[in-house]
Amino acid sequence: MYKLFFHLFFKRMDPEAAHHLAFAWIRLAARVPVLRTFAAAVLAPRFRELRTEALGLRMHGPFGLAAGFDKNAVGIDGMAMLGFDHVEIGTVTARPQPGNPKKRLFRLVADRALINRMGFNNEGSAAVAARLAARREVFRTTVGVNIGKTKVVPEAEAVADYVTSTERLAAHADYLVVNVSSPNTPGLRNLQATESLRPLLTAVRDAADRTVTDRRVPLLVKIAPDLADEDVDAVADLAVELGLDGIIATNTTIRREGLASPADLASETGGLSGAPLGDRSLEVLRRLYARVGDRITLVGVGGIETAEDAWQRILAGATLVQGYSALVYEGPFYARAIHKGLAARLAASPYASLAEAVGAGHRNRKDTPA
Ligand SMILES: Cc1cc2nc3c(=O)[nH]c(=O)nc-3n(C[C@H](O)[C@H](O)[C@H](O)COP(=O)(O)O)c2cc1C
Repeated sequence: MYKLFFHLFFKRMDPEAAHHLAFAWIRLAARVPVLRTFAAAVLAPRFRELRTEALGLRMHGPFGLAAGFDKNAVGIDGMAMLGFDHVEIGTVTARPQPGNPKKRLFRLVADRALINRMGFNNEGSAAVAARLAARREVFRTTVGVNIGKTKVVPEAEAVADYVTSTERLAAHADYLVVNVSSPNTPGLRNLQATESLRPLLTAVRDAADRTVTDRRVPLLVKIAPDLADEDVDAVADLAVELGLDGIIATNTTIRREGLASPADLASETGGLSGAPLGDRSLEVLRRLYARVGDRITLVGVGGIETAEDAWQRILAGATLVQGYSALVYEGPFYARAIHKGLAARLAASPYASLAEAVGAGHRNRKDTPA
């Protein structure tokens, strides 16, 4: 049904316009009590066995919405209504900014992928903090806040920019993410080098602790799939050393191998997400788990389309999993399909709980694909 609708309607629209239209419908539905109760009953079934404790937080399940869909925190309840167990808003920058000129989002239908060079279009951390402070929660859900650097701020002043956003947003965040992995802000990914990352994460940690004194806000870092393996290891070691709570692997890739889409589309500048990203994201996750084990919470994201994909990330070491691009292709039943499939896989597995399955692929290699 959705697939037919997608091909007849959304596919003919500009991808960014389609996003805004679909998101407006979701938000509208979430404002009508009867409609949202019905939609949530159908799309967000709760499975006891999928209940997840991560980052010191209790969640209905492990599957959440990746950053970038709700950049300004305008539709958290709408996305919870669609069955996402956590919603990561942002990326939010200290100053409001328009992002890159349009057109900046492309659909690679043949690859079930997207390329985006949005460039952190967002209303800025002051406006987003005010919105989160005023929010009246309809569906209880975990809200992650993902922060990044304002484009016009030079790299040398990046720390202060992240600290400003932390001071404004930490109080409203169930967890906070330092995004240093978007390919669309010049120089941003240089902050992944440990010489830059160490002072950045230390300053954000201090700012969060200064601002929020009644609890410890979990802090995560989101990394790129294009890091060399040694750099993945270096970030993992740094995360352990600094007592970071989690690592999100991964953001979009600038690589373009093996795409079926026409060359002019596949060569658009920006970050590639969706199905073609899956293998590398899984590889980075596996490497991280081999390095840090359960000392740090790992979040798997990139090319997760099916429950099987999500299950493989859990076996590879992810406590939480996220998706974005497949929502465009799979439609509103995406999260429900992941939940149902995960519950079935868990029931058919030798593990008593989802927590027991996390990283089990490393302990029992027959659980991982050859
Ligand atoms: C249009 C678009 C915008 C995105 N914006 C952000 C962002 O602002 N911050 C961020 O950390 N990741 C952003 N991402 C990356 C996603 O959060 C995710 O890491 C990536 O898309 C891989 O997951 P997927 O294959 O399920 O889409 C964006 C992705 C897309 C497609």
